[in-house]
Amino acid sequence: MQLKKFDDNIWICDGKTVNFYGFPYSTRMTVIQLSQGDLWVHSPVELNEQLKKELDKLGKVVFLISPNKIHHLFLSEWVSAYSDANCYASPGLASKRQDIHFTKELTLQPEKEWVNEIEQTIFLGSPAMEEVVFFHISSKTLILADLIENFNPTAFNCWQKKIARVVGILSPNGKTPVDWRISFFLGKKKAQKALDIMLGWKPENIIISHGECILGNAPEFLEKSFGWVS
Ligand SMILES: [Fe+2]
Repeated sequence: MQLKKFDDNIWICDGKTVNFYGFPYSTRMTVIQLSQGDLWVHSPVELNEQLKKELDKLGKVVFLISPNKIHHLFLSEWVSAYSDANCYASPGLASKRQDIHFTKELTLQPEKEWVNEIEQTIFLGSPAMEEVVFFHISSKTLILADLIENFNPTAFNCWQKKIARVVGILSPNGKTPVDWRISFFLGKKKAQKALDIMLGWKPENIIISHGECILGNAPEFLEKSFGWVS
């Protein structure tokens, strides 16, 4: 099985490793089954026959979600495979990927189709990139893409590990990569507001796209990981 149950009505799938500026980045997507049975897919990984079979058995893929403008690598193949699905753009992605038809750009408010089951806000404050963050209410799971990267040190070779430590993306001390953190220089108040919203959701666990998920004690991890905001 490629889909792994994370909690009731929420699954993860680890995709292939992609090259990100010379670093092997593992990838992970999250699938939520909404109460009517429709599937909501966050940051789709590379699609293959087996994964498609498992998803189709589970329900109908209706929502495809790009959380930030660098999470779009496999979107077009999903749009082709699920032509009836609604594809939602993260801020700035629609102009970057004009080859993809997006239903709309995600906003600070959850869409009416998932408002009762998934909370949503945008982590504002950086001119470089904004990430839309989500919270699956019933499983108390926060879903992030790049705001926390938390790689096991064994994922990298010696020199990669040294750089990754400086960038701040090694577990158990994973955080927002330093180059992105710096870009919040003038936007810390907006970042703090988003962090407060995430903490207010009282998450128990955090699914992230790159590295080790945070299982339990999510608020403590968030406070530590986002210490740079205050
Ligand atoms: Fe990423």
